[in-house]
Amino acid sequence: MRVTVTGASGTIGLAAVNMLVRAGHQVRAFVRRPQALAGRCREDRVEVVEGDVLDRTAVAEMISGSEAVVHCVDFPTGEFAHNWDALRHTLEALRPGGSFIYPGVPWVYGVGGKGRLQPEHPKNSSSRLGVVRAELERAVTAEGGTVVRFPEVYGPGVLKGPLHTLFERAMAGKTVRFPGDLDRPVEFIYIDDAARALVAPLGRPHARGRDYHAPGFAPITPRDFAALIFKLAGGEPRIRWLSRRWLRILGRLGRDGRGRSELSYLDECAILLDGLRARRELGWRPEIDNAEGVRRTVRWLRNRRTPSAAAQEG
Ligand SMILES: NC(=O)c1ccc[n+]([C@@H]2O[C@H](COP(=O)([O-])OP(=O)(O)OC[C@H]3O[C@@H](n4cnc5c(N)ncnc54)[C@H](OP(=O)(O)O)[C@@H]3O)[C@@H](O)[C@H]2O)c1
Repeated sequence: MRVTVTGASGTIGLAAVNMLVRAGHQVRAFVRRPQALAGRCREDRVEVVEGDVLDRTAVAEMISGSEAVVHCVDFPTGEFAHNWDALRHTLEALRPGGSFIYPGVPWVYGVGGKGRLQPEHPKNSSSRLGVVRAELERAVTAEGGTVVRFPEVYGPGVLKGPLHTLFERAMAGKTVRFPGDLDRPVEFIYIDDAARALVAPLGRPHARGRDYHAPGFAPITPRDFAALIFKLAGGEPRIRWLSRRWLRILGRLGRDGRGRSELSYLDECAILLDGLRARRELGWRPEIDNAEGVRRTVRWLRNRRTPSAAAQEG
C-alpha cells in the first residue's frame, strides 16, 4: 500500500516509517527537514518529501497518490491548536476511501477507576488539553479515520520524554525522579509494539471510524521499571517521587510544562488500557515484555554512546 507518514522525524513517526517499510509498504515520509532522517531509515525504500503541514497546498501535494496516511505530527502545548489545521489539511487531502491512522493518547480519559479502560470509556479528562485532544480524536473517527491509543513509549530511537530521561539518569547512576506514587501500576509500551499497532489497521476496512487501545505488555510500578534499568546498569536503584508542587515549578520553567502539570492528576491514578478490541479486530497484541524491552533499550543507548555509532547517527 502507498502510505504517507506525517511527522516522520518525530518519535512515533520515525518508528511508523520503519515498521511500514518492514511490512512491505511503499512509504513517503513528510518532514520539515529531510536531514533529520539521514541514517535513521532505509533511505533506498523511503521517499522523503519536505514541507510544512500547516501549508495546505504542500500537504495536498504530499498526500497525492497515497492510499493511507499515518498522521504523527505533533505540536508543543503552547501551539496545540495547530493540531486542528494539521489534521484538517491532511484529512482533506486524502482521497475518498483512503485510510487515516492517528496515534491517540490515554490522557483523553479522566481518573481511571478500577480495571482496564475500554475504548468507549467516557473521555472526561479534567485538563483543557485532554478535552481538546478528545475532540481531535473524535473528529478523526467521525471522518472514517482510525485512532490507536497507546501509553508512553520507550525503546531504541526514543530520545525524548520522561522515560528517556529515566533511562539516561539511571544508566548514569543518578537518582531518578518520577511523578506521583511510585508503587501504582502503570504501563509503558515498547516502541516497536506501538508502531506495529499503528500499521495493523491498514488493509482492514472494518477499522474505519473505530478507535483501539494498544496497551503495554503488562502493568508495572515506576519503582520496578526503574529497578530493571538500574539492574542492567549495575547500580543501586535510586528513585524518588516528584510531588505536584515540583511539577508546578517545572511547569513554569519548561516549554511544555504547563500542559504537563495540567495532566498531573494522571500521576495519582492508574490508567490501564484494555487491548481486547485490537486483539480481536486487528490481530494485534504487545510482544515485548518489560524486561526484554528495557534490555534492548539499555543496549541501544549504550551502543549509541560509542563514537562509531554516534558518527553514524550524525
Ligand atoms: N511519544 C509518546 O509516548 C506517545 C504516546 C502516545 C501517543 N503519542 C502521539 O503520537 C503523536 C506523535 O508524537 P511524538 O511523540 O512522535 O511527537 P514528536 O516526537 O514531538 O514529533 C512531532 C513531529 O511533528 C513534526 N512537526 C511539527 N510541526 C510541524 C509542521 N509545522 N510541519 C511538519 N511537521 C511538523 C515534527 O517535525 P520536526 O522534527 O521538524 O520538529 C516531528 O516530526 C502525537 O499525536 C502524540 O500525542 C505519542
